[in-house]
Amino acid sequence: MTALYQTQPHPEARFWDRIAERYAKKPVPDQQVYEAKLAKTDSYLKPTDRVLEIGCGTGTTALHHAPKAAHVLATDISTGMIKIARAKAKAAGFTNVDFEVASVDDLKVAPGSLDVILAHSILHLLPDVDQVLVKLHAMLKPGGLLISSTPCVGDFMPVLRYVVPLGSRLGVMPWVNVFRKAELDDWLREAGFVAKESWHPSPKGGFYIVAGASPA
Ligand SMILES: C[S@@+](CC[C@H](N)C(=O)[O-])C[C@H]1O[C@@H](n2cnc3c(N)ncnc32)[C@H](O)[C@@H]1O
Repeated sequence: MTALYQTQPHPEARFWDRIAERYAKKPVPDQQVYEAKLAKTDSYLKPTDRVLEIGCGTGTTALHHAPKAAHVLATDISTGMIKIARAKAKAAGFTNVDFEVASVDDLKVAPGSLDVILAHSILHLLPDVDQVLVKLHAMLKPGGLLISSTPCVGDFMPVLRYVVPLGSRLGVMPWVNVFRKAELDDWLREAGFVAKESWHPSPKGGFYIVAGASPA
């Protein structure tokens, strides 16, 4: 796997760096749902799989899945998040996980080199999500999987669209792309993905989606 990482800090990194320590200590909103998602993802992984995670945060998910795969490259724009993730990996003695500071926009991965890409609670933070999906599709082997979890805020809080510009400028919230699940489905399809599984455990929670990469 060849990867080229960012040289300039990402404009959103400051927000995530500032909250990294707190984020690491914060319990997940619904532990039962989180564990169910982990178990579903585990069921798709094979010991030979090369996995990329984008927006990995403090690495909990990457470290959970690493024993089920050959290698996990877990990436995030926040040096604070990656520092915590690396410390956890070192303390637990992982040898098949690399944590790197990288924006999904700058990440260069050899085309057709990955079996699985994980994208949890990140797609709604990307302004060019449709383009990113095209890029992720190109990184996957034919039949490879994109496994994501995404709050489709446009479905339950469309008014957030008007709050985001001021909130993110004041640094009290990250920039959020307010889109609906139907839009995400369209972008996935247009990028060449075929839906395999979709699970929506709670009305305001994220959609867990497993999508297969069809040949380009
Ligand atoms: C809501 S957190 C989710 C973290 C983790 N995936 C989880 O489920 O707990 C979003 C993460 O995405 C990262 N992020 C935001 N924009 C990004 C980008 N353009 N490329 C890569 N990571 C990004 C943030 O630094 C943050 O750690």
